[in-house]
Amino acid sequence: METSTTPQRKTIFSGVQPSGMLTIGNYLGSIKNWKAFEETYDCLYCVVDLHAITVRQDPAMLRRRTYETLALYIASGLDPEKNTLFVQSHVPAHAELSWVLNCYTMFGELSRMTQFKDKSRKYASNINAGLFTYPVLMASDILLYQTDLVPVGIDQMQHIELSRDIAGRFNQIYGDTFTVPEGFIPKAGAKIMSLAEPEKKMSKSDTNGNASVYILDSRDDILRKFKRAVTDSDTVVCRAEGKDGINNLMTIYSAFTGKSDAEIEKEFEGLGYGHFKIAVGETVADALAPVRSEFDRLMADKAYLETVMKNGSAKAAYLARKTLSKVYRKIGFTQPK
Ligand code: TYM
Repeated sequence: METSTTPQRKTIFSGVQPSGMLTIGNYLGSIKNWKAFEETYDCLYCVVDLHAITVRQDPAMLRRRTYETLALYIASGLDPEKNTLFVQSHVPAHAELSWVLNCYTMFGELSRMTQFKDKSRKYASNINAGLFTYPVLMASDILLYQTDLVPVGIDQMQHIELSRDIAGRFNQIYGDTFTVPEGFIPKAGAKIMSLAEPEKKMSKSDTNGNASVYILDSRDDILRKFKRAVTDSDTVVCRAEGKDGINNLMTIYSAFTGKSDAEIEKEFEGLGYGHFKIAVGETVADALAPVRSEFDRLMADKAYLETVMKNGSAKAAYLARKTLSKVYRKIGFTQPK
């Protein structure tokens, strides 16, 4: 009898911290790109609340942001039937594996993480141990699901490199245990810069409201922020060194329209910055309008969001437990039947 084997689908994992209003940086660097995988990969997308508490959070706000982030995943097009959408603290295996992997991660490695250095500067009065071991928890998120691909913005690549190193080290000591993951960086939008200081990354924790465009900003706010975006004293819309503001607007425009730099330069030839800024603002506002209205609809239906959370965490917990049991067995923990 002929046997046929179905090739095993590869696994995708990614997540966003519910630590603020999500920006178009989060959207273009990660969430927007996730839908493309749902037909061909096993996809898990997590709201990483355990990560968020490395910085002090207001409890009511954290709770609300957790629902909001999940709602934004769905409003951005992710089908909860085709993707496993869940909240990190609902699956205890993340914290459990994290402890184990802490013992296979070096102090020196964690000391070199740029996000740790940046955040220690920014939150100098709260440089807690969680902030330091944050990348180990992230490695646990990824390795628990035998993840092949991690779609993220460029700022997370150093953490993914570390996850690869931890997986490789563990596999070398105990034999094949973890899939060694790869990062997946989008062509346009891997690093969206601040509109107010275009040499700095756009961030959900920026205190300057004009620096970041939020996915849920009103149309008027979006248009206003783009009109006020910091550029330079030149007038020609083209990508060039030293034109950080215009380069960033071109990246945003390209990520939303799929147009190349050459096409954008041609489109705005002889038109000047004012015209370009309005076009970018309108494009972004048009693209985000349906996300916003779907978000509003979902936030009015908490029961539905809770069902998604529950189903997602049950599926995730099942997969996570398989890896965790394997890890416990390999390192010599007893597991009475
Ligand atoms: P977070 O919450 O800071 O950001 C979520 C995602 O958005 C991307 N991103 C950006 N992309 C382009 N331009 C920007 N200005 C910009 N700002 C943020 C981030 O690269 C990220 O993809 N440590 C992660 C969360 C995390 C995670 C994981 C991700 C925890 N565990 C496991 C992947 C896999 C973080 O802080 O993302």
